[in-house]
Amino acid sequence: MTDCKLGTLYGVSLGPGDPELITRRAWNLLSGKAHWTYPVRKKNSDSYALNIVLRGGFNLPEAHTPLHFPMTHDSAILAQYWLQAAKTVLTRLQQGEDVLFLVEGDASTYSTFGHLQRTLRALQADIPVEVTPGVSSFHAAAALCGEPLADVDDTIAIIPAGYGIEQIERLLLDFDTLVLLKVKPLLDDVIDLLRRLDLLQQACFLEKAGAPEERMVRDIASLYGQKVNYLSLLIVKNPHRQRAAMQRGCRKKPETNNE
Ligand SMILES: C[S@@+](CC[C@H](N)C(=O)[O-])C[C@H]1O[C@@H](n2cnc3c(N)ncnc32)[C@H](O)[C@@H]1O
Repeated sequence: MTDCKLGTLYGVSLGPGDPELITRRAWNLLSGKAHWTYPVRKKNSDSYALNIVLRGGFNLPEAHTPLHFPMTHDSAILAQYWLQAAKTVLTRLQQGEDVLFLVEGDASTYSTFGHLQRTLRALQADIPVEVTPGVSSFHAAAALCGEPLADVDDTIAIIPAGYGIEQIERLLLDFDTLVLLKVKPLLDDVIDLLRRLDLLQQACFLEKAGAPEERMVRDIASLYGQKVNYLSLLIVKNPHRQRAAMQRGCRKKPETNNE
């Protein structure tokens, strides 16, 4: 370790694909001198996060490093790659360099950034980390579908679809809006469920929201048997949900007797 001041790691949220949804704070960071890092699934493959920035008119600076995060559920393999990425970033931070990690959507929502931050802090606890919040995929999707995610007393659940059909059916009883992320492997089963619950008309599918290849599908039964991209989600509303009673107004404070 050197004595020089540590650099800061910035988790830079870029929104789901449209560069116009990059916040001003993220834009300012990108315009500075920090070293850029960004996730790639395979060595030399494209980075979705980096492409958002390039579409926004930025040039890739010389000071950049792709970080490899493979698509696997094997936690031992993943841990190895997180460690490798954290060590790469740590070397720069210890030399006093600021490092940006480019994040698709919002950095606090199911993001690789969380793994990077945790692994880095396990290596060195005092590393300064800042997160710039961003527009999540489902906020952008709701806007594109033209439906609010929630009104007045509505309830929302946001889950990875991998919890399975039983859980999805249960949540539809309790929530007015259900957002299913990572829906790709279960899409046909979800369509069957929504048909059974008479909710097919209440769903909106978004793929690569904000990117040039964006696709919005309202007739979700038409997606049955189709291959969809990993970057896709489903928003389902349940107008049939039975609500419990709500408590309204200011509750009276219990009287105190301190005179
Ligand atoms: C690892 S999570 C990342 C979430 C992201 N950090 C966010 O704030 O939206 C990946 C899942 O988010 C959803 N997702 C991310 N970007 C998307 C996009 N541009 N269009 C549609 N869904 C997207 C998909 O469900 C995808 O499987």
